[in-house]
Amino acid sequence: MMHHRIFAPIVLATLCFASCAHSTPYSIKERHPVPDGWSLLRRAPRQGEIKLQIGLKQGQFHELERHLNEDPSHTRYGQYLTADEVSDLIRPSEDTLLLVQEWIEQSGIGAEKIVFSPASDWITMDLSVSDAEMLLHTEYSEFWHAESKTLAVRAPEWSLPGHLHSHIESVQPTSSFFHAAGLAAKIEFPRSLYVDRDEGAGNPDIKDLNQLAESLSGELSQSIDLDNLPSDLNARQACNTSAVTPLCIRALYGTLTYEAQASDQNAMAIVNYAGEFNNRSDIDLFLKAFRPDAARAGVAFNFQEDNIAGAVNQQSPATASQLAEKMGREGNLDAQALLGLAFPTALISYSVGGEAPAFDPDKYTPTNTNEPFLTWLHHVLAQKELPQVISTSYGDIEQTVPYSYAKRVCEGFAQLGARGVTVIFGAGDSGVGKDGYCRSNNGSENYEFLTSFPASCPYGTSVGATRNIEPEEVAHNERNGFVSGGGFSRYFPRPAYQDVHGVVESYLSRLGADTYTSLYNRQGRAYPDVAAQGYRRVIVWNGEKFLVDGTSASAPTFAAVVALVNDALIAERKPVLGFLNPWLYQKGFEAFTDVTKGSNKGCGTDGYFAAAGWDPASGFGTPWFPRLKELALERKFRSQRPWYWLFK
Ligand SMILES: *[C@@H]1O[C@H](CO)[C@@H](O)[C@H](O)[C@H]1NC(C)=O
Ligand SMILES: *[C@@H]1O[C@H](CO)[C@@H](O)[C@H](O)[C@H]1NC(C)=O
Ligand SMILES: *[C@@H]1O[C@H](CO)[C@@H](O)[C@H](O)[C@H]1NC(C)=O
Repeated sequence: MMHHRIFAPIVLATLCFASCAHSTPYSIKERHPVPDGWSLLRRAPRQGEIKLQIGLKQGQFHELERHLNEDPSHTRYGQYLTADEVSDLIRPSEDTLLLVQEWIEQSGIGAEKIVFSPASDWITMDLSVSDAEMLLHTEYSEFWHAESKTLAVRAPEWSLPGHLHSHIESVQPTSSFFHAAGLAAKIEFPRSLYVDRDEGAGNPDIKDLNQLAESLSGELSQSIDLDNLPSDLNARQACNTSAVTPLCIRALYGTLTYEAQASDQNAMAIVNYAGEFNNRSDIDLFLKAFRPDAARAGVAFNFQEDNIAGAVNQQSPATASQLAEKMGREGNLDAQALLGLAFPTALISYSVGGEAPAFDPDKYTPTNTNEPFLTWLHHVLAQKELPQVISTSYGDIEQTVPYSYAKRVCEGFAQLGARGVTVIFGAGDSGVGKDGYCRSNNGSENYEFLTSFPASCPYGTSVGATRNIEPEEVAHNERNGFVSGGGFSRYFPRPAYQDVHGVVESYLSRLGADTYTSLYNRQGRAYPDVAAQGYRRVIVWNGEKFLVDGTSASAPTFAAVVALVNDALIAERKPVLGFLNPWLYQKGFEAFTDVTKGSNKGCGTDGYFAAAGWDPASGFGTPWFPRLKELALERKFRSQRPWYWLFK
């Protein structure tokens, strides 16, 4: 009987595959509203090309999740999975694979178009727009985001034959408007970067800031010899909060005297989207000013690039329009934040191409506008060796993407976590939501706080921004509207690890049942998890120093601290931190300096106030590296694979 039950569906599907065709009427699988700010331009040219990505139902994601949620009290904690082990867990059932292939072939699309991901949980096909429309019974259109001058080809509603609804979870690009592209330093959302020194020639405030950035870095390098740092340098001596440099961060978070011991086995990574790049010449200027040891080692010119889907990490001189769009600022900040702190850990820079180029209404518009997050995930998940920490400073409002997409992307991050990678995101830069935009887009126009994705994904560690020292407080900048983000997901329920010590519950009871009741989802995944400096950070861009704000700075800063903890762990042949949150909420939080001042205002409210303990403005606060390292080294493992497994 048992035997029969297990094998019957497979046999049936196989028989039918050969002899009878499944055919059921199409019905709508997903409909997701076009988010605010996007307008319909016209039908997409039918000969245009689309890289269709079909997410099949995964076999045993729950098993992977169980693995991931373990903390050191579990026998398998720290035993990271290999790429093959992850693939075995999530491989779809035979039934799913056969039925989906049958459907594609019956639709007249050649089997040779089908490309499977290593775990076969995604199918990717290069199709014409008209073939994609035929397959999904939909219409693709061009949508225009005026604020960021972004064009995307999307289909907000699409269908599947009835019998496939339970086998296919997501198809993109369709209804996800996630950060499709953008020349974005100009826009305040979704790009997490705010610039203080800006085009305001004639604005005396801004001119002062230009000079400040220049003179402060000059002053600091005169007063403190970066090659012979006093070992007892404290944050008060190392920091001027008007222009925050790597020296300040290293003193503030306690990494100044740490000597990396395992940098040949340790790596950290950033991801560039939307045509961003890491200008090596700028990075070198930055390191010369703030990390002369790294500059002498030539790291700006040596770090590894991994260019995906036609991306170019541009090093040729910037064009006038790139300068006008401030291209490269985000990419420079991310690389400079990581190298400034975690040198000599190796840096890997992923760049993802395939997005829509800048829109020019006078020219033919190519329609190849891929979905960049998935493109990146498919690429890295197929690799056998991965960097131990990856920082991503790009985000968008959660409701700009359908739940099915957010879920699958988030589960992709879970796979990285299960393989021992710490995945880090910025918490967003508009507090609890930008004034004037705080509406549900589900048709109800419900007034509510906005959530940031992927910060809301429970399988990543989300980093808020702080400013000032002694004490640090929740970062905001009246001049450019930047406010560190935080809140509660509407898509993802609160994960079990956030209940271990009840920190979210206790914040909520302090907040009270009557505050913001209709504005947020009390049961949602709460973020950020932690925080780091994200105000008036000095960067070098186009040969000059600038001050920038944003959780874009906080995420790589925290990632750098994680990279150094991993260094210490690898040196002692212990498992690296991997998916951080279960341990963070169980024990690791003890190594954080609590931030209790400020709030992440927005949506016409004061937002959430920082408070003693965890809060949705600053998480657990900012890292104190010596203690974090100590606690990480002290983790006891109930059982462990031999150490060499790590480097396999
Ligand atoms: C920070 O720099 C500014 C500008 O040079 C200076 O006026 C201020 O005194 C400095 N603050 C500290 C604490 O050194
Ligand atoms: C890179 O930075 C240098 C100055 O360091 C500048 O001359 C060059 O135009 C920049 N290139 C790009 C693509 O931004
Ligand atoms: C829209 O979402 C809000 C909460 O975000 C919910 O209260 C409301 O019922 C939803 N309306 C529809 C039409 O789905």
